[in-house]
Amino acid sequence: MSWSPNSWRDFPIKQQPEYKDKDKLKEIEKQLCNFPPLIFAGEARDLKKHLAKAARGEALIIQGGDCAESFGSFNADTIKNLFKLILQMSVVVAYSSGKPVVKIGRVAGQFAKPRSSDFEEKDGIKLPSYRGDIINDIKFTTEAREPDPYRMVRAYYQSAATMNLLRAFSRGGLADLNEVHRWNLDFIKSHPIGQKYEEISCQIDKAMNFLKAAGLTSDNTPQLKQTTVYTSHEALLLNYEEALTREDSLTKDWYNTSSHMLWIGDRTRDLKEAHIEYFRGIQNPIGCKVGPTMQADELLDLIEALNPNNEEGKLNLIVRMGATKIEDLFPPLLKAVRDAGKNVVWTIDPMHGNVEKSSTGFKTRDFDNILSEVKSFFKIHKELGTIAAGVHLEMTGEDVTECTGSASCPITVDDLSSRYHTQCDPRLNANQALELAFMISEIF
Ligand code: PEP
Ligand code: CO
Repeated sequence: MSWSPNSWRDFPIKQQPEYKDKDKLKEIEKQLCNFPPLIFAGEARDLKKHLAKAARGEALIIQGGDCAESFGSFNADTIKNLFKLILQMSVVVAYSSGKPVVKIGRVAGQFAKPRSSDFEEKDGIKLPSYRGDIINDIKFTTEAREPDPYRMVRAYYQSAATMNLLRAFSRGGLADLNEVHRWNLDFIKSHPIGQKYEEISCQIDKAMNFLKAAGLTSDNTPQLKQTTVYTSHEALLLNYEEALTREDSLTKDWYNTSSHMLWIGDRTRDLKEAHIEYFRGIQNPIGCKVGPTMQADELLDLIEALNPNNEEGKLNLIVRMGATKIEDLFPPLLKAVRDAGKNVVWTIDPMHGNVEKSSTGFKTRDFDNILSEVKSFFKIHKELGTIAAGVHLEMTGEDVTECTGSASCPITVDDLSSRYHTQCDPRLNANQALELAFMISEIF
């Protein structure tokens, strides 16, 4: 079946905005088609190799970032703190497992959100739902909720600037292993988890001193001072994704150049619909969410459609069942995929199956449920002799109060209102995310 970057337009599609001004939409799409790519196809191929290693148990994946990036909270500090948090978590996991960590941010493009309802109602007023800053505005007014194609241009520029800073941090010295203490975020330093992290940092210092004595320094061994943080987002708004889909001059294959990795959400993975059509044509590593309604035969068909050549590192299945469901629903899927000999990269998203409403009215997630789903995921893989390749998290390097729980610095239902800043779903704060990394390290 032939494919082109716009062949998805012939298929039914869910979760898209209805733009009123079609001429403006066309004009913006044309502009985006001329904008420079944000990544190089070779980088996407490298990531695929790293994901293949993780699928074989030779590396671990930490993928994390905001539920939704926003225009309003765009600044250097939040990007830097997310970067530091990803490095901290990686150090904790790499130190205990002895395996390299593949670092992937939900960042530099994570703007479009699927919603459970097309409308939102407040005090008797009904308006279209907020769909992410790339589509409309979160303010609850008629004008704000009108989809505006120009927002795609803003999202592109913000993604470019974010990507630029991540690349600078990765190569410019902040990622140097001699700087592990500097990654410890100020507000967690004094907490038990921050102190536990300091202990590992001191061990790393000793190892670095030893290497220095042996003649290896970050000046003569760049691996000690550089890292790579890959980018990813849910490719939901296909007008945007199509415009950034380009033919690689080297291989003549098609790549989405807005991000290294893209994934398909649990609500838009219908085999006969537009998102699957779009994704089957791009050569980037891709993800697909696997929620509680997924059936084994459906999953095998999806794998066939998205990775027909059974390529290693190409397809990441992101399981998000919920803590109470994973033990029942996941093993039959895992067995089916294992027995069919399919190469997939299994990770766990312990966030999206564990959403609840607090008694005080906040959308939240409890840390114990998040931990429990991660533990179940690793346990099920162990029992079936398959490989758990990593985690996919909604998290921030900021000191927010959006998820309840954690042993080292608990957040109660009453605390939620104090720093609840998310645009969409509740995120782990840096303390909770680091605590989760320590829990994963204990599994090893
Ligand atoms: C998300 O990852 O932000 C998301 C919406 O997840 P899901 O598609 O699994 O609901
Ligand atoms: Co979310």
